[in-house]
Amino acid sequence: MKLLSSKASCNTHGQDSSYFLGWEEYEKNPYDEALNTKGIIQMGLAENQLSFDILESWLAKNQDVAGFKRDGKSIFRELALFQDYHGLPSFKKALVDFMAEIRGNKVTFDPNHIVLTAGSTSANETLMFCLAEQGDAFLLPTPYYPGFDRDLKWRTGVEIVPIQCTSANNFQITESALQQAREEAKKRNLRVKGVLVTNPSNPLGTTMSRNELNLLIDFIKVNKDMHLISDEIYSGTVFSSASFISVMEILKERNYLKDSYSDAAQVWNRVHVVYSLSKDLGLPGFRVGAIYSNNDEVIAAATKMSSFGLVSSQTQYLLSAMLGDKKFTKYYLSENLKRLKRRQRMLISGLQKAGISCLKSNAGLFCWVDMRHLLSSNTFEAEMELWKKIVYQVKLNISPGSSCHCSEPGWFRVCFANMTEETLNLAMTRLTTFVADINVANESKMSSRRTRSLPSWVFRLSSRNHREQEER
Ligand SMILES: Cc1ncc(COP(=O)(O)O)c(C=O)c1O
Repeated sequence: MKLLSSKASCNTHGQDSSYFLGWEEYEKNPYDEALNTKGIIQMGLAENQLSFDILESWLAKNQDVAGFKRDGKSIFRELALFQDYHGLPSFKKALVDFMAEIRGNKVTFDPNHIVLTAGSTSANETLMFCLAEQGDAFLLPTPYYPGFDRDLKWRTGVEIVPIQCTSANNFQITESALQQAREEAKKRNLRVKGVLVTNPSNPLGTTMSRNELNLLIDFIKVNKDMHLISDEIYSGTVFSSASFISVMEILKERNYLKDSYSDAAQVWNRVHVVYSLSKDLGLPGFRVGAIYSNNDEVIAAATKMSSFGLVSSQTQYLLSAMLGDKKFTKYYLSENLKRLKRRQRMLISGLQKAGISCLKSNAGLFCWVDMRHLLSSNTFEAEMELWKKIVYQVKLNISPGSSCHCSEPGWFRVCFANMTEETLNLAMTRLTTFVADINVANESKMSSRRTRSLPSWVFRLSSRNHREQEER
């Protein structure tokens, strides 16, 4: 007898992907600087732990807020009862202002056009429920964040069709890749409802170029039944040039404003931004996300749906005060970027010492690392073989490119902001030793192959030379 629904028992959740399996392995044997120095170091988790001290010092200075007081009086009861799915107006205002600040105030956001959700996970799923039917598809450039298989597909029944991007042009989206994805969807009899991108990209750690963004806008301009979702969860992590360009800036540049001529207004209505405080502020546990859309109908529907994943009122209260403190946000954003940049440099130079390079990146909490030269063959089986060695022998949990649906074997996502500098150095030492051992093993294999393939007179000649040298 079947006790559970087919949804509950189907395996499209993605829990068995190597991305999540790596986490499980880490949980069984986690590295600890004092208690388990031989354990697995977690480098598969895009967490930002570099600026907690700044948040903590703000909390220490604003104890009234953390103690749920306003003007010295407790507002505990007010917060305990508040459950309006429209959210606290003060928080929505502080959040849109923060989003604008991250974008250099080149664009502004209207608090009436934001829907609060329990993280970007919930925001992305809610948008799927609003924009697509079961069996419809969204096109996603590869490699993409492994969690999307769960967030976009699992409960909604929406399909993902990959836009195949390759290392030949640093994984940028091209028009032909977009068209091919569309053809692929057609072959699979799927109606395409739009494109979803992450900008900056998880897992690439790169920002999208103006060309790519214009290409996407052109694509939905022509395809009038399609939407563009830009997941900008890493927008506050851009630490080097080129600087971040939000899709909202492109709309503004193209003068695609609500009141402009009808074609432009159509496009304006079909672009949606997803955001969260999980990465930029390093608060994934607070579950604070948002959908920003210019489309009134989408906002109305998403607001109703948000009752399944609200942000708690005490969290909203705390963060409205924190983000409303402009001196704090300015300092936090610039200091956090400095720290992220230093970390990324440390990772890159550590990898270089091990003879490993990465895709040139300027954002995010990770690097997209090229280990193709360490594969025993150019296959995904060889990638898994290498990944298992890195997890079980080297004891580093990193994410294989195949879990991000990368079309080329040998790429890995390696996170750098969820550990101390000492732990990162240890991880690099372990990796350097591992690569050196592989090189020694390969060298001895090569020389024994070379030796085996030489004719016997070479040995006779070389031993005679050796003898002559000894006698001299
Ligand atoms: C691109 C992207 N979108 C969404 C999420 C989910 O984030 P949240 O914690 O806000 O649900 C993540 C988390 O890693 C992510 O990388």
